[in-house]
Amino acid sequence: MMELHGRRVVLGVTGGVAAYKAAELARLLVKADVEVNVVLTEAGAQFVGAATFQAITGRPVWQTLWDSRMDNAMAHIDLSRDADFILIAPATADFLAKLTHGLADDLLSTLCLARDCPLLVAPAMNRQMWQNPATQRNIMQLVNDGVSVLGPGIGEQACGETGAGRMLEATEILDDAIAFLQPKVMAGKRVLITAGPTFEAIDPVRGLTNPSSGKMGFALARACVEAGAQVTLIAGPVTLNTPRGATRIDVTSALQMRDAVMRAVDAADVFIGVAAVADYRPVENVAHKIKKSLVMSIDLIANPDILAEVAARPNAPFCVGFAAESQNLASYAEGKRVAKKLPLVVGNLVQDGLGGDQNAVTLFDENGAHSLPQGDKLEVAREIVKHLAVLAGK
Ligand code: CTP
Repeated sequence: MMELHGRRVVLGVTGGVAAYKAAELARLLVKADVEVNVVLTEAGAQFVGAATFQAITGRPVWQTLWDSRMDNAMAHIDLSRDADFILIAPATADFLAKLTHGLADDLLSTLCLARDCPLLVAPAMNRQMWQNPATQRNIMQLVNDGVSVLGPGIGEQACGETGAGRMLEATEILDDAIAFLQPKVMAGKRVLITAGPTFEAIDPVRGLTNPSSGKMGFALARACVEAGAQVTLIAGPVTLNTPRGATRIDVTSALQMRDAVMRAVDAADVFIGVAAVADYRPVENVAHKIKKSLVMSIDLIANPDILAEVAARPNAPFCVGFAAESQNLASYAEGKRVAKKLPLVVGNLVQDGLGGDQNAVTLFDENGAHSLPQGDKLEVAREIVKHLAVLAGK
């Protein structure tokens, strides 16, 4: 994971039972090559001891304003000066209230008040505490003050109740921290994406499909969310987790995908067709299982071309197509761009089949072809988003 390589983070740990997840978060950050300086509040230390964080980060843990290890006794200022951001996980209701009002009665709160870097907080509390108008007021104020609030999650809580308030998992916080650092080139844009294969039923137990994994479409959805867009992801049958922050609509067939797209397209500024839509579907919709025979024939009919239909609409959103080809990439991809009247086509040569974690793509627009370096699909997706943001912003 290169996104956080060489970054410096102050990890504030306040007094909630979710502090145990902060130890895991510290480990993930260290693994991502981040220098982690842990600041524990007095209550935080009741849950996880300083020795745990020191062992995980390989660095001193800071607990008091009166720490004599800092030469100038200015830990409350110096610790944040070379940090990329302060991340408080867990952030208790009490600590959030302190932050809202600018209280500075311990090392962590003083650091936050004296900081010159961004502040991210991952709230963790009982659901009633989270819903309490006082907490909601505080959160709104913090957001207005430019603090990034990560989560909270919804689910089972340590107290035995279920609801909103639990701290996000360490991996989710890491993802959010990475997302925070991405340039917000799509802020305010509404993006509609299709992803994955479609499945065209032949009978109740058989169908036509293809091996598209959906990974590239899901990576693009995540990259768009990271870039500040509001994302709707229309997914064919895939086994992938929804990128947090994206709204997902599951469909099976091309016709369902088309209907879902047409319902959502008016509210989209950008449409990205990544789905490997089946070109044909059986003409007949057979209600019962077809019994086997030596020869079987099925009549197929062409499916609607969703992307071409969107691009041909009056007031069409900015449309991006994908072209996976096994040869003649440039001519086929550019041909599709012109035929479907698209400002941008992302082309790739399919040599090892679909479904890999890496991709190497070439972008085709009215200025010609631009090859992007090979990378994992999320890295490639981020580069595509940067390129399309420039074109869509014109
Ligand atoms: N697409 C679509 N609806 C379809 C078929 C394709 O929206 N029924 C979109 C895909 O999501 C992708 C692009 O169109 O963005 C692919 O174009 P297409 O010409 O259909 O590609 P292929 O199916 O690969 O075409 P061909 O089989 O002729 O190479």
